[in-house]
Amino acid sequence: MQKLVINGGKKLGGEIVLQGAKNAALPIIAASVLCGEEIILHNCPRISDTYSAMRILTYLGCRAGFEDKNTAVIKAENVSADGISDELMREMRSSIFFLGAVLGRTGRCRITLPGGCDLGPRPIDMHLSALRKMGVTIREEFGALNCTAENGLHGAKIPLSFPSVGTTENIMLAAVLAEGTTVIHNAAREPEIIDLASFLTACGAKINGAGSGKITINGVKSLYGCEYTVMPDRIACATYLACAAAAGGELVVSDCRPSDMESILTVFEQMGCILHTTGEKIYFSAGRPLKAVTPIRTMVYPGFPTDAQAVIMAALCKAKGTSVFAENIFENRYKHVDGLRRMGADILVEGKVAVIEGVNRLYGAKTDAPDLRGGAGLVAAALSAEGTCEISNIHYIDRGYEEIEKVLSSVGADIVRI
Ligand code: EPZ
Repeated sequence: MQKLVINGGKKLGGEIVLQGAKNAALPIIAASVLCGEEIILHNCPRISDTYSAMRILTYLGCRAGFEDKNTAVIKAENVSADGISDELMREMRSSIFFLGAVLGRTGRCRITLPGGCDLGPRPIDMHLSALRKMGVTIREEFGALNCTAENGLHGAKIPLSFPSVGTTENIMLAAVLAEGTTVIHNAAREPEIIDLASFLTACGAKINGAGSGKITINGVKSLYGCEYTVMPDRIACATYLACAAAAGGELVVSDCRPSDMESILTVFEQMGCILHTTGEKIYFSAGRPLKAVTPIRTMVYPGFPTDAQAVIMAALCKAKGTSVFAENIFENRYKHVDGLRRMGADILVEGKVAVIEGVNRLYGAKTDAPDLRGGAGLVAAALSAEGTCEISNIHYIDRGYEEIEKVLSSVGADIVRI
């Protein structure tokens, strides 16, 4: 089992070229099932989740692989509707997107319930009720869902009780080849939704309103191939900035999109960090001492994203004063607090609220990554600790970050994978 060994206390300095967005690449890879022609995807991050998504495509009978560093080539000439195997479904949460895509292409699909990080119960009730509205019959048999649309998928008006990212994306994937018009009300507005819509439009889909609360999709007969570049990963960007805030020093992040990150950059400014941004670069200087921030409420976009909660919390462990978080999106997203406490952080968790009393120093400790973003939070805290930290279970971190130890050591961190 691999682990990261980090000797903290070293300031960061230098430039990071940001990876492509995991949470845009995954639904786009699933969307390629809808196109019979070749898809060329640039800026696709090489992370275990995109490798898993490619394995699902291969299992479905598609040709899929990475050509050079970050270009994926996919051709879904024939798609088998037998569905997706259990172990592939368990590899990650995003496998649920394939349901909408395979149904959109073939009208049938069999899946088991998706896996992924344990962030509290992660139901798919909204996904299933939306697909039923589009003419899909779903039968639960032995833990698997047998989905069929005997008369094909048809458009529907779908109000969402919560602007769920995955549900919005699954509906878009099922609707682009459906008969008629689909309207999603209270749709998620995340930038990754816009990226998926832009990709589908480049393949000939008819989509309006992506990024707003109302998305309209007019079904078309078929989609053609295209060449597309995935958007930058705003959460990976937030992670590296949090590492710099925690360790101290200066950082330039290029190939990013600051306009996707307003709510995150504001928090760094409240912490006393200095930021200067251009269209695709962030010039960042860690404030010293960092100031506590309160309250930080995780919200749907454009509010502060839940995916950035752990890494910002890590940076605030040594801030001057008391910081307070309210985690409003997932029930169980404070599993990194245990690891931070082992490093000497003073954190109280009460339900969805976490209270962080800034301490003067953190110490090296042995910890386990509890999930993807929690693991990244432990890395950020370890960079600011005195002594050596070991972080195990780093397969979670590898799900979303491309070579995190190489990126961080390229800007001065003392971090190795063993
Ligand atoms: C996406 O997950 C992201 N994953 C998550 O990023 C991100 O945290 C989340 O959106 C919120 O922004 C990908 O894009 C692959 P949701 P998703 O549906 O689609 C509840 C990361 O670290 N819900 O918006 O699963 C759900 O339980 C990952 O990169 C239902 O109740 O998020 C949760 O409490 C973690 N029923 C809330 O909605 C449903 O049918 C938000 O879920 C669907 C969701």
